[in-house]
Amino acid sequence: MRVAVTRGIPEAGLELLRREGDVVVWPEPCPPSREQLIEFAAGADGLLTLLTERIDGELLDALPSVRAVSNMAVGYDNIDVEAATARGVVVCITPDVLTETTADFAFALILAVARKVKPAADSVLRGEWRTWEPMGFLGQDVHGATLGVVGMGRIGQAVARRARGFNMKILYSDQQRRPEIEEDLGARFASLDQLLRESDIVTLHVPLTRETRKLIGAEQLRSMKRSAILINTARGGVVDTEALADALESGTIWAAGLDVTDPEPLPADHRLLRLPNVLVTPHIASASEATRAQMSRLAAENLIAALRGEEPPRSLNW
Ligand code: DGY
Repeated sequence: MRVAVTRGIPEAGLELLRREGDVVVWPEPCPPSREQLIEFAAGADGLLTLLTERIDGELLDALPSVRAVSNMAVGYDNIDVEAATARGVVVCITPDVLTETTADFAFALILAVARKVKPAADSVLRGEWRTWEPMGFLGQDVHGATLGVVGMGRIGQAVARRARGFNMKILYSDQQRRPEIEEDLGARFASLDQLLRESDIVTLHVPLTRETRKLIGAEQLRSMKRSAILINTARGGVVDTEALADALESGTIWAAGLDVTDPEPLPADHRLLRLPNVLVTPHIASASEATRAQMSRLAAENLIAALRGEEPPRSLNW
């Protein structure tokens, strides 16, 4: 089998793929453009892609030899699954293996933003640490606060489990109530409106779909507490970026921690990056050595199975 991998990924997966056939890996640090990808992957049986590649009918028509696309991510908003299915192309993803690592990072953002870790550390670097300051860098308590989890899937639940250890009150909103997890997590179901009104910290864990695009816009931000913190480790498109920048500038909400943005990457001169109450990281929530190796391995296993005509471990349309 001939496989095209759209960027350098951990060896764990590449090694598995190499045992099966020819593997070409896009050699640049940035993703290939569409034209480059078509040229690079010509003749490939399978693609191992990342969330940076848009996989749609037009691309698949330009690469007619491709029978399977394995995305090294749990999110698949970059893939037109319907178009792939219509062309008999198997689509696979890497859920579960990144759940705990992503939840760790969501919590890292919660703590860092609430306790002003970045502005405080930056001030030390600037040589501004003169003395112990009774009024310096006053943040918000995380322990005992109300956490609103928007999207109580695997990652939302993992964040809620961590929140229990901080004695937080947990509200969640989802497409439907999940009574089976409520007792275990000590979580209470709420409408999105109620959750936004009552939470001190709102953390987003929904996939990006037509329904969730700009789920958090000006109106939703206005309904939040002025002391509230918004955390996004899901997809940038779930939040209206300009409305969020307005809300943070005007004090409509207190602060935000964003591992994902719309657009991505966020231009270095974007106004969000000039605000002292925003912490932006470059989409790294799943970036631990162990987890990225597991994602690489699962993406390879998915692709190998699909190309052998066997059921892949995690396929969306097998
Ligand atoms: C995903 O898997 O969808 C993340 O955004 C990257 O790990």
